[in-house]
Amino acid sequence: MTTQVTSTHAYYFSAAHRLHSFQLNDDVNRKMFGKCNNPNGHGHNYTVLVTVDEEANASSDTLWDRKALDRLVHERIVARFDHQHLNYDQAFSHGLTTTGENLARIVWEILVEEIPDGRLQKVGVIETRDNYFEYIGNT
Ligand code: NI
Repeated sequence: MTTQVTSTHAYYFSAAHRLHSFQLNDDVNRKMFGKCNNPNGHGHNYTVLVTVDEEANASSDTLWDRKALDRLVHERIVARFDHQHLNYDQAFSHGLTTTGENLARIVWEILVEEIPDGRLQKVGVIETRDNYFEYIGNT
């Protein structure tokens, strides 16, 4: 049996977005997304929860600590998305809808490249007090 100790760290950014699928016409978009489809967009204070495997630290030569994680997430996630309109970010602007699910996956895909030894376990995104999304990819 593998024991597993993980830790989860929270990061914050504020961003605008508009829920709109390019695969659907305007009418269906309005029906599906309601006021979240308003053309001018709206904002959220997003919380990103990054869960990493702590046990790997004991069995690896690679120095990877909380400071490294903080630096990485601030540089690659917070600096990129804070006070931006997500629909115009290159991850979404080609037609990916800016749902919380997709945002969690995009954050995962950015971080998994940089976090060594499969230590990234999960990415969660809190969009509103009622909505939480998470993505667990293959490491
Ligand atoms: Ni929204």
